Amino acid sequence: MPEPRDTAVYTHGHHESVLRSHTWRTAANSAAYLVPSLRPHMRILDIGCGPGTITADLAELVPDGQVTGVDRVPEILGRARATAAGRGLTNIDFAVADVHALNYPDDTFCVVHAHQVLQHVGDPVRALREMKRVVRPGGIVAVRDADYAAMAWYPASDGLDAWLDLYRRVARANGGEPDAGRRLKAWARQAGFTDITATSGTWTFAMPEERAWWSGLWADRTLASAYADRARLGGHADDRELRAVAEAWREWGTRDDGWFSVLHGEILCRKEA
Ligand SMILES: C[S@@+](CC[C@H](N)C(=O)[O-])C[C@H]1O[C@@H](n2cnc3c(N)ncnc32)[C@H](O)[C@@H]1O
Repeated sequence: MPEPRDTAVYTHGHHESVLRSHTWRTAANSAAYLVPSLRPHMRILDIGCGPGTITADLAELVPDGQVTGVDRVPEILGRARATAAGRGLTNIDFAVADVHALNYPDDTFCVVHAHQVLQHVGDPVRALREMKRVVRPGGIVAVRDADYAAMAWYPASDGLDAWLDLYRRVARANGGEPDAGRRLKAWARQAGFTDITATSGTWTFAMPEERAWWSGLWADRTLASAYADRARLGGHADDRELRAVAEAWREWGTRDDGWFSVLHGEILCRKEA
């Protein structure tokens, strides 16, 4: 694989509390902006595929095509392969790759997709240039990322304010950009795209079971995950502060009035034919 590779650290890691969120994701709840552009024969590259639930949905949406999922972390690909095998998919394969230096020829894929990846990488503009290189003329680069500073919740909570401040500091110290959603269009322009459709999409957690799930996974992630380790090791928070943030999440989850919205930026970039 050509250099350079990523200099950033993936903030969340693949702890069970993180995978609880990743494995909930579907093309419907995370790639709806892309789905209308898909055709049955397409060849798709899904970068930073993680445990592969979105990747598997994409494979079902292109039954006469092929989907390749890649991730920088080899260990998570076993989980992705199991997801695909469990669904009986045969038009899907997986490989290790870094988005900054993809081991594919120019003009290979009809669609190159990345969900919640560019916020974690060291050089998102370089990543987009590389995605542009491997997509065919007339093909689409599709990217969706959360924007942490734009997340909104009710009721107000000093503890969740502290969570947001801590998360953004840890993500930036790791070399990422937690407020990526609002920057995607600018990064795509810097990468040389001229045909860009920019939209936004949300996840909302308000019903009792949604609040319990979302608050529980963030409370657990704050106490035991790569993010928690990085927060401690980087001197961003001690155990007492992490316990207070986790407790704030659990408390918010019990609120009958509770509402939480995650804003994402989305871009569909078409490569010149
Ligand atoms: C937040 S997860 C998203 C997983 C999946 N796309 C989803 O939305 O469920 C980000 C993934 O990107 C991977 N990743 C981080 N940096 C990467 C890089 N430079 N190249 C390829 N994958 C990367 C991580 O290992 C992780 O699996």
